[in-house]
Amino acid sequence: MRPPGPGRLAAVARIPRFSRDHLAGFRNGWETYGDIYHIGVAGRDIWVCSNPDQMREILIDGRDVWQRIDQTRKGRPFGLRLALGEGLLTTDGAEWLWRRRMINPAFHRELVRSMTSTMYEAGEEMLARLGSAARQELPVNLLSETKHVTQDIISRTMFSSDLDDAGGKVGDAVDDALRYVSKRASALFELPFTVPSREKRRFDAAMRRIDDAVYGGIERRRRSGAVGHDLLDILLTAEDEETGRKLTDEQVRNEVATIYGAGHETTANALAWAWHELMQNRELLERLHEEVDATDPLDVSDLVYTRMVLDETLRFRPPVPFNGRVATSPTALGDHDVAAGAGAVLVVNNVHRHPDHWERPETFYPDHFTPEASAARHRYAYLPFGAGQHMCIGSNFALIEGTLLLAMMARTFIFEPASALPRRSATAVTMKPRSGLPTLVSPR
Ligand code: HEM
Repeated sequence: MRPPGPGRLAAVARIPRFSRDHLAGFRNGWETYGDIYHIGVAGRDIWVCSNPDQMREILIDGRDVWQRIDQTRKGRPFGLRLALGEGLLTTDGAEWLWRRRMINPAFHRELVRSMTSTMYEAGEEMLARLGSAARQELPVNLLSETKHVTQDIISRTMFSSDLDDAGGKVGDAVDDALRYVSKRASALFELPFTVPSREKRRFDAAMRRIDDAVYGGIERRRRSGAVGHDLLDILLTAEDEETGRKLTDEQVRNEVATIYGAGHETTANALAWAWHELMQNRELLERLHEEVDATDPLDVSDLVYTRMVLDETLRFRPPVPFNGRVATSPTALGDHDVAAGAGAVLVVNNVHRHPDHWERPETFYPDHFTPEASAARHRYAYLPFGAGQHMCIGSNFALIEGTLLLAMMARTFIFEPASALPRRSATAVTMKPRSGLPTLVSPR
């Protein structure tokens, strides 16, 4: 039986449009061909999946068969691996597992909860910056502000602010490097990596800034002999109990870059998207105000509605809207036979809008996350943090941070669009409002 999907010519004809807007392309394919369809491009089978059952088949039941996409081409790094090296986000199998074991202690639930007051301090500095813009009646790009604060929180909680020095912020350098690799990965034609260009020079400079900051930080930390209990210490001292293997300095550098790369823009986008929706919905905002006015933001677990707003944001605008895996041996997806080497695209954005699983798929509706609605839902209909063994190591961190910051912002300010709200999103590594979020701020 021929699987559903565009024929080879139709698939090739769609490539230019698809490369301009991947999400619209996957949406269109889903509407045309259904929950699972096949594309054959350049001799490769790709299965595009938009149903929670397929998420379970790939990420849970098929975890030994479906592995992360190998980010090397002809023995050279490719994609995220160009910027982040070999690390938690770019490896799989045994190499990945021992890293995950080394790094897990930094994300222990109690330890993360104890970081709330540090997150709050960084949040207060963001409020001061927003207050100053409000007094001067200057518009702000709210996305830049949320990025600033989430980057600051990673620096303070994970690295005791030790890595950012006169040379600039490591997080900015990681962003610059990731922007370049993501552009290369989605380009129709790419110049060989060795060919000089303005963008390549900027990438090289960003990589030097990361290396200088991280290797310098490692040396200072070793010299000072100080033992904090942040991620940097955990990375420097972690040792595999069975083999005695430790992380090399290069591996530590890669994990630091990974945590910056994975750990701030995602949450920053979620916060900006939350305001993008709240600015358009007075009723939801009033309900949010009722809660945050009566609750100390540090009591994050009491911020029940605030958390529902955040959860709904992660459904409606997932910062990681799709993910990929490769079949390492022949397997099946539903009724379809899948050849070894085939790729699967897990379109989380479609799953999150699947009409069989969501009451109002195309509406921003925090009541999707009442305890009753959540309990009744398919377990894999909601996966902003992925699922299975690679599930986001920072999910708990992000949920505490996101809820806290959303409450602090809602308590203090009114946000209004400074110009027409961006309708479209851009997906470069993560999904964000295409032109940032120009916003007017005033005190409540
Ligand atoms: C709203 C915020 C966030 C979202 C939506 C998000 C999303 C995700 C997703 C979908 C994955 C799975 C990737 C896969 O299956 O291949 C992932 C993995 C990961 N995330 Fe997050 N993330 C967020 C915040 C964070 C934070 C705050 C950190 C660290 C401080 C972090 C660090 C990581 C790391 C290291 C991995 C790789 C895990 C592994 O493969 O073992 N993320 N994230």
